[in-house]
Amino acid sequence: MAEFVHSPVMLEELLSLLVPPRPEALMVDCTLGEGGHAEAFLSRYPDISYRGIDADPRIQAKAALRLGRFGDRVSFLSGYFDEVLGAWEGPGPDLVLFDLGISMYHFVESGRGFGHGKDEELDMRLSPEAPRSAAQLLAQEREEEIARIIFEYGEERFSRRIAAAIVAARRSGGIATSGRLAEIVSAAVPPQYRHGRIHPATRTFQALRIAVNDELGRAERGIRLAVKLLAPGGLVAVIAFHSLEDRIAKRIFREFSSTSASTGASDLPISEDTGGAMLGLLTKKPLESSAEEQARNPASRSAKLRVARKIGAAGKANA
Ligand SMILES: C[S@@+](CC[C@H](N)C(=O)[O-])C[C@H]1O[C@@H](n2cnc3c(N)ncnc32)[C@H](O)[C@@H]1O
Repeated sequence: MAEFVHSPVMLEELLSLLVPPRPEALMVDCTLGEGGHAEAFLSRYPDISYRGIDADPRIQAKAALRLGRFGDRVSFLSGYFDEVLGAWEGPGPDLVLFDLGISMYHFVESGRGFGHGKDEELDMRLSPEAPRSAAQLLAQEREEEIARIIFEYGEERFSRRIAAAIVAARRSGGIATSGRLAEIVSAAVPPQYRHGRIHPATRTFQALRIAVNDELGRAERGIRLAVKLLAPGGLVAVIAFHSLEDRIAKRIFREFSSTSASTGASDLPISEDTGGAMLGLLTKKPLESSAEEQARNPASRSAKLRVARKIGAAGKANA
């Protein structure tokens, strides 16, 4: 029997906001993971059907076991969500969920070097089809580019020092494991930073993972495609775990929002230029996890949930 190590984040909030606009709605879960959200939606709404996308076929296999009892109400699509949505055929979904980032499974079980706490091969690819591992990225990129990645995707103020230390370590044997990278980063930062609230390598690990999987580019393209594909009256939800992702969701929702004062998008006709869609925002400000959930599941502390509805009557075909 598979063990599930990830708790679905902000589940109650999602269940109360992402209400199917029709009983036989189609829900697309762009980040299926271990299928925790999927199981809850399939149980709560017995007539919906569900398509679960994940870039990682290994975690998807765990979800398939968990969701087996729902039979042909569930189907699985393997690949990065922007690519799967870009090749979408058939009716648009009524509900779309993005629960961005990686799963607890990746830290605990994958063996692919996502965390600084274990000494594993420094891979970090979600999909076996991603072009290069984190170790290859660190071996190939110029120091300035490594510093940029760590600064922009990790929001790490010691990015230059860390990049210089990585390049120096490259000359003496390379960086093949997560343990080695954690050591190099710890030694590169000032001593007081080593004893801060988070491990000194946390931000560097996040940055590398984002770069290896092009997480921000994919979030940008994926959320736009979801808005475009969504059936009229349908709902899209995005859970982000750091400000870089949340900013993307906020900007796209604002851009397509009928209530957006900043862009004036409410006056625009529905057209190809605007992604073929207009949205109403259900969350003007993002929702955060409850104190109870934060105590139970510390990983939910940084979660921000935004939900928007595509303008139009449910049941009409998508353009
Ligand atoms: C936070 S976990 C989802 C957890 C899931 N909601 C649950 O309840 O078990 C995010 C999942 O999305 C996948 N993922 C991340 N970025 C992706 C992308 N661009 N395309 C497809 N899958 C992605 C990861 O492999 C991971 O399994």
